Amino acid sequence: MRQIVVTGGGTGIGRAVAAAFAEQGDQVVVTGRRKDVLAQTAAALGPLVRAVAFDAADPAQVEAALAELPDRVDVLVNNAGGNTDIGAEPTEGLTGLAAAWRANLDANLLSAVLVTTALRDRLARGGAVVSLSSIAAHRGGSGSYGASKAAVEAWNLTLAQQLGPGRITANVIAPGYIEDTDFFGEGIAPARRAWNVSQALNNRPGTPADIAGTVLYLASPAASHVTGQTIHVNGGSFSGR
Ligand SMILES: NC(=O)c1ccc[n+]([C@@H]2O[C@H](COP(=O)([O-])OP(=O)(O)OC[C@H]3O[C@@H](n4cnc5c(N)ncnc54)[C@H](OP(=O)(O)O)[C@@H]3O)[C@@H](O)[C@H]2O)c1
Repeated sequence: MRQIVVTGGGTGIGRAVAAAFAEQGDQVVVTGRRKDVLAQTAAALGPLVRAVAFDAADPAQVEAALAELPDRVDVLVNNAGGNTDIGAEPTEGLTGLAAAWRANLDANLLSAVLVTTALRDRLARGGAVVSLSSIAAHRGGSGSYGASKAAVEAWNLTLAQQLGPGRITANVIAPGYIEDTDFFGEGIAPARRAWNVSQALNNRPGTPADIAGTVLYLASPAASHVTGQTIHVNGGSFSGR
């Protein structure tokens, strides 16, 4: 039975990814900071899913969580993250700016780097690491969030080089606008939503299931020769060719 770890698996895209693996019969650990949210998700997704709570951007918490994570990991999905500017108080001066940038780099880049490094020796031959970036890394407009996701894509190339000899793939998925997540906190403004949807060639928002399907493919034997790539899942809003 494959062992899967999905960071940020309590809500949104991560929850859909965890559900998709569990439906295939894989054993899944969902992680995140909120114990109650994780416990509800694990209970809803069934006996193949269990929860381990820790802050993926905190080195000490990641190290402490290792005892509860599987000894062998077939698939690691670095999904934890989000735009920490959303809902944040406006910052003042360079000190505030630095704190805001560090928050996005911590949430999106360091979370993936720390968890992957901590689990590096447990990754199984033939396994896969899939990390979440964003269309924001390519289209601009979101400052430190886009920069943090662009850094995930750059880091992934080194990761793919390191893991390749062990026949482990490392890829990134860059979603466009995805609905039914907690990403936008209080919710997205209707005009912004309409613009996002209008950018997609199929005139629809993305769903967590769209991303889960791509994760399943990247984690399957069919994708064993696909590594070091960024896969764009956005209805054609942005072309990564
Ligand atoms: N929704 C979109 O339109 C969209 C588009 C492009 C990319 N993405 C990316 O997709 C990924 C999933 O986001 P989502 O849309 O599904 O939003 P979401 O519902 O807010 O999910 C993000 C999850 O990450 C967890 N998380 C955040 N920071 C964490 C940390 N430091 N340590 C551990 N867990 C952490 C959150 O749980 P806790 O708060 O409990 O920790 C939450 O469950 C993110 O990386 C996001 O940047 C989303």
